[in-house]
Amino acid sequence: MKELEELGDLARIARQARRRAHAPFSGFKVGAALRTRRGEIVTGCNIENATYGLTLCAERVAVFKAVSEGLRRFDAIAVVVDSKHLAAPCGPCRQILWEFCGDLWVHMETLRGAKETVRLSTIFPLPFDATNL
Ligand code: THU
Repeated sequence: MKELEELGDLARIARQARRRAHAPFSGFKVGAALRTRRGEIVTGCNIENATYGLTLCAERVAVFKAVSEGLRRFDAIAVVVDSKHLAAPCGPCRQILWEFCGDLWVHMETLRGAKETVRLSTIFPLPFDATNL
């Protein structure tokens, strides 16, 4: 599938976004690149705060940027970290991704070359969403 083959390109864009991370407290920089079904790409990086709790993850920054720019209908997000292990989106990010993106592809890479692609529903089964209300 062409959309899946291009996830490496999306990860390269996430890797660039990662360099803009503001992570002076954890030192853990994360880059994300969110793709619409029409091929537009919006990036995100984690942005930490001295109060810690106000920190925003790279994934949510990408989603909120995209939604605020009028973009909807997403099909994939790439997440890049410099770690031994891949970073799957945290719980709150999974909820936000589900709300705005549905069952999109989540492509994870490390700078050391590990990679894995899963559907959001694989790591976020039984979601609570508007259909429950
Ligand atoms: N972080 C992300 O940006 N995305 C994730 O998927 C996991 C964690 C950030 C939040 C914080 O700035 C740092 O990584 C350490 O948790």
